[in-house]
Amino acid sequence: MSSIEPLAAGPDPFAPARLGPITLRNRIVKAATFEGVTPEHVVTDALIEFHRRIARGGAGMTTVAFCAVSADGCGTPNEMILTERVVPGLERLAEAVHAEGAAVSAQIGHAGAVATAIGQRGLSPSPIFSPRTLRRTRAVTEEDIARIIADFARGARMVAESGFDAVEIHLGHGYLASEFLSPKLNRRTDRWGGSLENRARFPREVARAVRAAVGGRLAVIAKLNMTDGVPGGLWLDESVEVARMLETDGTLDAIELTGGSSLENPMYLFRGEAPLVEMAALMPQPARLAFRIFGKRFLREYPFEEAYFLAYARQFRAALEMPLILLGGINRLGTIRRAMAEGFELVAMGRGLLREPDLVNKLRSAQSTEALCVHCNKCVPTIYRGTHCVLERHNAAG
Ligand SMILES: Cc1cc2nc3c(=O)[nH]c(=O)nc-3n(C[C@H](O)[C@H](O)[C@H](O)COP(=O)(O)O)c2cc1C
Repeated sequence: MSSIEPLAAGPDPFAPARLGPITLRNRIVKAATFEGVTPEHVVTDALIEFHRRIARGGAGMTTVAFCAVSADGCGTPNEMILTERVVPGLERLAEAVHAEGAAVSAQIGHAGAVATAIGQRGLSPSPIFSPRTLRRTRAVTEEDIARIIADFARGARMVAESGFDAVEIHLGHGYLASEFLSPKLNRRTDRWGGSLENRARFPREVARAVRAAVGGRLAVIAKLNMTDGVPGGLWLDESVEVARMLETDGTLDAIELTGGSSLENPMYLFRGEAPLVEMAALMPQPARLAFRIFGKRFLREYPFEEAYFLAYARQFRAALEMPLILLGGINRLGTIRRAMAEGFELVAMGRGLLREPDLVNKLRSAQSTEALCVHCNKCVPTIYRGTHCVLERHNAAG
């Protein structure tokens, strides 16, 4: 794609780079892709192996995907929950990744209305109907908010004590913090809703609490929605302002820019084909039949484009001084170089590294200039049984 060719040279993507208090061996980060191997909510050998492979494959940093800060914040029933029980496993995982020369981050969050805990209503800023649980959510009280902010701080402290290099706060994808930011979903009239200042209070307080909990020991990143991808949701005019507020607060070392909503518009996150048949196959009847008929509406498709978030991310680069991480459909070495030339400090890659965990080594050694990933999104329904690329078994060498 001609628009994504390199400009004048930027920093070398394969040279070491600073991220707050840490140094990464290169500028390519594995984006969080929920691994689906933590049925007991704690680290398993399979989770360690997943990240060891990414680290061995050359990424500068790998990200352990969604770790819920509390049981009511789980987005799927088999996620890690940050209790004392996870610390020994996280320590082993960090050691395994470090032994391969990469850094390791943990994404922490509260799923809000996306939470699917059995028998529980999801929590959100204002009550909404959740398509996940087919029930209305409960609006969080002042007490809930204080407790959840404290949970973020406690979770971040555990991640730090386990020897991780970074913690990534989830402020996107229609999860709780993102619901607070949304003018559509947040209908509160107290100090947590209404004006942008008020809607941004919860994510800012979370970031403050996390920074206070970990100090300068590790890098603190936030994954922030640029747009929810739905009419009336958060959009660039406001999300750039939120990013400015976060920059002024000085609580973060970088912002990773994303978009879409697991609650309202999931395919906006990924682009490409919606894996309707594979998703339906996971469901019992009659939900399976209903999904095959109506699923296209929920999983609205968007054509895949290389670096599909770049045009939006540029608005943030123009408005901010702080380090930014470009994400979304980065598959070519030329795109990575272009991102560096445009001033993005790091890039994050999800599906490309599921398809080829050793992609960074291949790009660095000029064995390849483009990922094999075809954005079929058939990896997405595998999150319930161990996340993987359905084509990866065809690789000549594992
Ligand atoms: C199987 C799968 C699981 C994902 N799980 C998460 C997750 O737990 N947390 C998150 O923030 N994003 C998650 N994502 C989104 C990715 O982090 C990333 O934002 C998205 O895939 C776009 O990047 P890419 O084009 O490089 O794949 C997931 C994506 C995939 C494909």
